[in-house]
Amino acid sequence: MPKSDALVLFYSAARNVVMKQYAPATNRNREPILAVLKQWLPPQGLVLEIASGTGEHAAFFAANLAGREWQPSDAEPSALASIAAWRDEAGLANLRPPVCLDVRDDMWPVDRVDAMFCANMIHISPWECTLGLMTGAGRVFGPGGVLVLYGPFKVGGKTAPSNLSFDADLKARNPAWGVRDLEAVGACAQAVGLDHVDAIPMPANNLCVVWRKRA
Ligand SMILES: C[S@@+](CC[C@H](N)C(=O)[O-])C[C@H]1O[C@@H](n2cnc3c(N)ncnc32)[C@H](O)[C@@H]1O
Repeated sequence: MPKSDALVLFYSAARNVVMKQYAPATNRNREPILAVLKQWLPPQGLVLEIASGTGEHAAFFAANLAGREWQPSDAEPSALASIAAWRDEAGLANLRPPVCLDVRDDMWPVDRVDAMFCANMIHISPWECTLGLMTGAGRVFGPGGVLVLYGPFKVGGKTAPSNLSFDADLKARNPAWGVRDLEAVGACAQAVGLDHVDAIPMPANNLCVVWRKRA
């Protein structure tokens, strides 16, 4: 290999080591989430991941969901850099470069997607982000578009004790944050034409909730 190519490889590997962020929970939850995605995502098409964070989920799901093209996104520049570094390292043809996407924006950098996945955002952001997420889903989905949300929820006003203390901790950090009521999130989904199709219990008192855009 020419010396200049070796240097480029060395610097790109070093850059990835610096930029890559880690969220240990992603290694614990990715297999159960993958099982849900395999069950509910269309067998092919474009999947938009909202709030990809570190990019670890994106690299793992793209590697394990052949046939689907995975579009990661986030609103934070440091997250976008980390996602790009994980993507570089993964070298997957079906993993697109990350795009900057704030769910509250009226215009998203995608026109039409077949499915959306979003983990752990709606409770760590103001309620406007849940509204923006649902409004955007209603806009970019055609009939049959599938939305999968992962995270903690309250159902009928109740949730596990660990989620109640998490809720208190979130609200102490930011009063606009907090574990959301599944019924309130579902009402937003209904309002943009998304029907609830499943809610699957996940480890650590989380849920995967699935909605589908009606025809
Ligand atoms: C707790 S992290 C979750 C990351 C990843 N999905 C996971 O499960 O590890 C929350 C993410 O939501 C993103 N986020 C917060 N507000 C957002 C917004 N308005 N639009 C898009 N992403 C947002 C943050 O930048 C952050 O990456």
